[in-house]
Amino acid sequence: MIKVITYGTYDLLHEGHINLLRRAKELGDYLIVGVTSDSFDRGRGKLNVRNNVLERVDAVKATGYADEIIIEDYVGQKIDDIQKFGIDIFAIGSDWKGKFEYLNEYCKVVYLPRTEGISSTMLRAKTTTDINIGIIGTGRIAGRFISESKYVSGVEVTSVYNPKLSEANVFSEKFAVKGRYDDIDSFLEKVDAVYIASPHLTHYGYIKQALLFGKHVLCEIPMVLRGDEAKELYELARKKNLVLLEASKTAFSPAWNHLQVLVKSGVIGDVIDVKASLSKLVSGDVRELDANQAGGSMTELSSFPLMSIVKLLGMDYAELNFHSKIVNGVDVFTRGVINYDNATSSITLGLGVKTEGNLVISGTKGYVLVPSPWWLTNYFEVRYEDQNLNQKYFYAWQGEGLRYEIQEFASMIVQGRISSYKLSWIESVTIAGIIEEYIKGDRTKILK
Ligand code: CTP
Repeated sequence: MIKVITYGTYDLLHEGHINLLRRAKELGDYLIVGVTSDSFDRGRGKLNVRNNVLERVDAVKATGYADEIIIEDYVGQKIDDIQKFGIDIFAIGSDWKGKFEYLNEYCKVVYLPRTEGISSTMLRAKTTTDINIGIIGTGRIAGRFISESKYVSGVEVTSVYNPKLSEANVFSEKFAVKGRYDDIDSFLEKVDAVYIASPHLTHYGYIKQALLFGKHVLCEIPMVLRGDEAKELYELARKKNLVLLEASKTAFSPAWNHLQVLVKSGVIGDVIDVKASLSKLVSGDVRELDANQAGGSMTELSSFPLMSIVKLLGMDYAELNFHSKIVNGVDVFTRGVINYDNATSSITLGLGVKTEGNLVISGTKGYVLVPSPWWLTNYFEVRYEDQNLNQKYFYAWQGEGLRYEIQEFASMIVQGRISSYKLSWIESVTIAGIIEEYIKGDRTKILK
């Protein structure tokens, strides 16, 4: 019996897939089809797949050509499968010509003719009209947003707004964004959604204006610096049936999501303590150190650490206190303690003090260590008393990592979901509330 194997995503199953499967089946007596898992696709940067793995498996099954369907979940699995199933022929479309020569060592490799003029990518493009995004603010992160948005299908950055037209012009030339505006109303009229990357203190006003104009909003961290403001804006978004999402990029990354489900499923027992640190030394005449522009370690750096604590321990904290070192009216160092009835947590932040930027989650059975820079999570370890049980997890953090939040924002808009479990509105409100408590100052001791 000749056994054949082939692999693919098979999203929005089309004639090209059916021809390929028929040809593969004709090469032998028994055809195994490997369908990629959702997380495998996400991990290799394929973020726009429409059908989930169950739907894609069903679609392949319905063609009637597969004798057996398996899930492809990791790099290198093809070699394992070929040996495990005793495969004679590995078949794949001719668009992959030359890419699988390394499998010749294990079986025969056949490149089958690809059907011209059709692909899942083409079908995905046909079935959506792009979400037209406008950017408010033209700083460094705005430029990165543009390059990252190219990895997400169904979105296009079409306009940019800056109250100084000259700056909007420079940005629009540099990043080939057509629309450039210094008038916010004309700008908002032209877009479906906005990404706000302006200075912190302008966020509240821009978010409100955009929502009142009926536009979805993705806003950079920290979204706002007060819990009541955050609540008001989310309520407005809900009333108008619009998406408002805080762009806390780590919250949307595949590695962070996996870490969270592992912890929630009890691999380290009950979580008793979370320690998150983040420091970035800056000096001179910069926004981060300017009290008038809400500079300081807490406003600049606390969003990711607080996100991790709120995601892991929840929103019902019992006690808050802070210690800060203040220079020229801004906290160049802050250590915050957020205690719960059943757990403790702390954040260590520095703009003028350097520290190890890692995350440690301690539990009754073991702990998770995410080494610095933990907010770009691409590797973490689950460690136990018995070191033989330790597990290491590796992930690809693609590019600047903004593509994951853009993908979530776009899919919320398309599916009409106004809250994301990856960072819910109430979690975002809680984070703003903790920053607000810090700014009020009653819970802060100043270091001499
Ligand atoms: N295939 C084909 N003819 C097409 C499209 C795909 O023969 N017109 C083959 C591929 O070469 C591969 C298999 O179908 O062997 C599964 O490919 P997959 O990547 O799932 O399909 P695409 O339509 O190419 O998807 P995408 O556009 O997302 O890359």
